[in-house]
Amino acid sequence: VLHGGNISAFSKKYNLNREDILDFSSNINNLFYPKEIEEILKESFPQITQYPELEQEELREIIAQREGINLDNIILGNGSIELIYLIANFLSPCKAKIIVPAFGEYQRALKGFGSRITLFRLLEEEEFRLDLDRLYKDLEEEIIFICNPNNPTGGMIEEEYLDRLIDFIRKKRKFLVLDEAFIDFVEDGFSPKLKAKILNGEDIFIIRSLTKFYGLAGLRIGYALGKKELIERLNLRKPPWNINCFAYQVGLKLLKNKEIPKKIKEKIRKEREFLSKELSKIEHLKLFESKTNFILIKLIHPEVDVKRLQERLAEYKIMIRDSENLNLDSSFFRISIKSNKENKILINSLREILN
Ligand SMILES: Cc1ncc(COP(=O)(O)O)c(C=O)c1O
Repeated sequence: VLHGGNISAFSKKYNLNREDILDFSSNINNLFYPKEIEEILKESFPQITQYPELEQEELREIIAQREGINLDNIILGNGSIELIYLIANFLSPCKAKIIVPAFGEYQRALKGFGSRITLFRLLEEEEFRLDLDRLYKDLEEEIIFICNPNNPTGGMIEEEYLDRLIDFIRKKRKFLVLDEAFIDFVEDGFSPKLKAKILNGEDIFIIRSLTKFYGLAGLRIGYALGKKELIERLNLRKPPWNINCFAYQVGLKLLKNKEIPKKIKEKIRKEREFLSKELSKIEHLKLFESKTNFILIKLIHPEVDVKRLQERLAEYKIMIRDSENLNLDSSFFRISIKSNKENKILINSLREILN
């Protein structure tokens, strides 16, 4: 599976210094980087000679408080990706339906554990919104994977829709995996209805990540929420010490701070509005409304396709994410939201190339 953020390959291909590259291809928050992290890493250094936490209770307790849920409903992962693989392992072999376009790793994980996959395509003409009636029509699979907010479209399923979907899933005895790796960027955050469903013991897993929101891709930390019995069964498959001492300490301290999330959300919202407004003025670009920290764009140009655009942007040292492995046609690309200065560079480069 191809991912955004492959700075090494890009710097080699175009003979650029890593530091000079403007990476709009990976959708990680690097707009506001909590300075506290460096201090925490330094303080944690003496712990490297010991095994990290086994039960991970303290961090799970903080997450429990943050989410208004119980300790037993939480499992921690070495990035949310570990949980995607753990859940795919736990549910397999199965028949799974993946709502696409979406993060490519669901397919890889499910396939690797022997599951049979079918795709349900969100349609561009419906702005990539989920049409439940259309989904129900051909839903034979017992497991459904949904990314919400969706990577790469940036869209969100309305709470009421999600509520209806979960009721349907209960009635039909199916299972829902909801990847909410980007939920922290969304204004309203955790849906109270969804929380109630977990506490009521529905067959759902919710996957969350600290990587994206706090910009900790190299540190790796994520968690999943589910009913107690499910979490217990996942725990049986989880390797011990999966969160290293640095990630653990950073998680503990960052999650206690209520001000940082407000700042991150506010900065991203402001820049998303600015970037969307300016890019919408460029004739050959069609933008899809995003609730999160990246924007999906369709390129409609008589001479320039996305491959060519990537080449041209490389002259400006800019990386974007093309649609490979995203189950979208090749006219789409995705950009992340960066600082105002960097966003302006992107806007001007696109203007120069496309006009
Ligand atoms: C939708 C989605 N879920 C999960 C992940 C995995 O993130 P991490 O393992 O860093 O938490 C990604 C990474 O790109 C993603 O886009």
